[in-house]
Amino acid sequence: MTDVGKVYPRTKDIQTVYLKNVITNQNIEVGDYTMYNDFANNPVNFEQNNVLYHYPINNDKLKIGKFCSIACGAKFLFNSANHAMASLSTYPFPLFFEEWGLEKKDVAKSWDNKGDIIIGNDVWIGYEAVILAGVTIGDGAIIGTRAVVTKDVPSYTVVGGVPAKPIRKRFDGKTISDLLEIQWWNWSSEKIAQNMEAIQSGNIEQIRRI
Ligand SMILES: CC(C)(COP(=O)(O)OP(=O)(O)OC[C@H]1O[C@@H](n2cnc3c(N)ncnc32)[C@H](O)[C@@H]1OP(=O)(O)O)[C@@H](O)C(=O)NCCC(=O)NCCS
Repeated sequence: MTDVGKVYPRTKDIQTVYLKNVITNQNIEVGDYTMYNDFANNPVNFEQNNVLYHYPINNDKLKIGKFCSIACGAKFLFNSANHAMASLSTYPFPLFFEEWGLEKKDVAKSWDNKGDIIIGNDVWIGYEAVILAGVTIGDGAIIGTRAVVTKDVPSYTVVGGVPAKPIRKRFDGKTISDLLEIQWWNWSSEKIAQNMEAIQSGNIEQIRRI
């Protein structure tokens, strides 16, 4: 029924793509059904327009789970965007190694490394949100529009602002732990289709019974 191998899941809508099918960089991993919508630029160019300062020399990973919704202009800012903060100068001398007689192999000393960016499953990332290097976002989280996410976001937590702070939990603790145990996003597409009503109901009892 579903065809997760296609680029455009909606007929005649070339602003919305199944993200995993437009990714070519082996340091970027995206799960099934995760979608990206872009009405300003071609969504096929997500790697160039949205994954920034992601230089191959650093080998940073961007991992995005299944069934995420990524809104137009959301950006992932990687380590090469940083400058060396412990240095007495933030000027990136190692980057201009020829000018200063430094070793080309030390070019990555220009920036501090904070790590990979890991996004869980069923995460909704709002319009023009920015996710910084080293951040992990849990399953079911919501990132508000124009948030700048500097710290990890727990599962099923809504965050917003600059820097992004928790606004509220989406559900009570028991519902969240049940959802994390059930992991409906790992069901087959047939099982998801059969239980669509329960998933959309907002009522954990319905999905508990499955
Ligand atoms: C984050 C969001 C989902 C919040 O939804 P919500 O839980 O219904 O939140 P509310 O509107 O009830 O607001 C709760 C509080 O969060 C604040 N808030 C809401 N969105 C915010 C945001 N993006 N940044 C900062 N603060 C935000 C509100 O001002 C309010 O603050 P208060 O408690 O001090 O009054 C929503 O505001 C948002 O940003 N959606 C993204 C929309 C988008 O980008 N869509 C793209 C197409 S998919």
